[in-house]
Amino acid sequence: MIQIPRGTQDILPGESYKWQIIEDRLREIAANYNYHELRTPIFEATELFERGVGGSTDIVNKEMYTFEDKGGRSMTLRPEGTAPVVRSYIENKMQHDVNQPIKVFYKEPMFRYERRQKGRYRQFVQFGIEAIGVENPLIDVEVLSMLMHIYQSFGLKNLKLYINSIGDHESRKAYNDALVEHFRPRIDEFCSDCQNRINTNPMRILDCKKDRDHELIKNAPVIYNFLNDESKEYFETVKEKLTEIGIDYEVDYNLVRGLDYYTHTAFELMSDAEGFGAITTLSGGGRYNGLLELLDGPKETGIGFGMSIERLLLALEAEGIELEQPEGIGLYVCTLDDNSFNKAGTLLHELRTSGISADMDYKQRKLKAQMKDADRKRAQFVIVLGEQEFETGKVELKNMKNGETQNVQLDELVNYLED
Ligand code: HAM
Repeated sequence: MIQIPRGTQDILPGESYKWQIIEDRLREIAANYNYHELRTPIFEATELFERGVGGSTDIVNKEMYTFEDKGGRSMTLRPEGTAPVVRSYIENKMQHDVNQPIKVFYKEPMFRYERRQKGRYRQFVQFGIEAIGVENPLIDVEVLSMLMHIYQSFGLKNLKLYINSIGDHESRKAYNDALVEHFRPRIDEFCSDCQNRINTNPMRILDCKKDRDHELIKNAPVIYNFLNDESKEYFETVKEKLTEIGIDYEVDYNLVRGLDYYTHTAFELMSDAEGFGAITTLSGGGRYNGLLELLDGPKETGIGFGMSIERLLLALEAEGIELEQPEGIGLYVCTLDDNSFNKAGTLLHELRTSGISADMDYKQRKLKAQMKDADRKRAQFVIVLGEQEFETGKVELKNMKNGETQNVQLDELVNYLED
């Protein structure tokens, strides 16, 4: 039997309403903050991620679904949304748009060849936002407040926001030099990835999953001490403004994030709900001041976050929060014999084209089974069609919520239900 690929999932019809509720909410909140949807292709030139996300990252080194197309070009299924948005920004010359900053959101499948684990999928739906074109602590705060607003709007309580500053390029460089000095003498005690990282991006060593307990990581220099005055001031303002609007956070000086493009503000939102599983990061993001130039774009800066719907669902489950199922169909038509069964199709057609959701039992089961089916479909009203109904031209409309019944003319049924 052919099976679904590892790390992917079918969203079954009985579950898809949860996704729809979340997606609607995300769109609604994005609109509140004036972010507009940007859709980019599912695959991009591999080079976009190699340069944009960074050659020293796990995403680029280990996790990309890369293939050669029939024209011999190397293509990659998008592993994240920021680099494609920036590519589109540059290509469409959005820096000349009258609306600045450019504020976009996306909600699309992403692909990463990751080890299978709870909360870690090879295809997942990432919702993300990006604000490009303004460098001001207030926009960083806007992004963070929207992030918190999303999770809080679902009633989640066990949320912990960690923030850090990676500083500007100058600060980042000074810090990287200090890390090299710190790790170099004993780098052979680290995994082979870290032995490469010391040359390509020493900050990534701090984020190593294998070596995380090494004493040198625990005593590593702290980035805050390498921030220049400008970077410190930027960070202080972000923190002040967050406090001003009542957003709780904790500073984590070891937070460097898994992608190379971050500068200044970097953050992760975690769940500390019991039973969440090992992967507790709900969302991550930050500011990327050099990314546009790195991709041959204008000297503009951006900030954003990404979050998967899969992990949001896990957080809801861990906190016992249920999403309310939408209402069922408007009317269920039961039929008693062949004649009414054959005529029911016409009635259904009329109902549906008038905007009333309706269904019937195509299997012609017994009335009791049909009533059960109506219940399962959470029908708001039920009618039973038989010889008598066609003779008198009247049906008994049963309200399934309160059990009340009412006699209605068959040819008035559509009008009645429309009201
Ligand atoms: P990221 O930290 O790689 O950042 O991913 C962001 C979020 O995507 C994670 O916090 C998680 O919710 C979700 N995610 C990542 N990998 C998986 C997976 N295998 N299964 C399920 N969910 C996953 C980025 O992607 C950046 N582009 C975020 C960003 C936007 N930074 C600035 N703007």
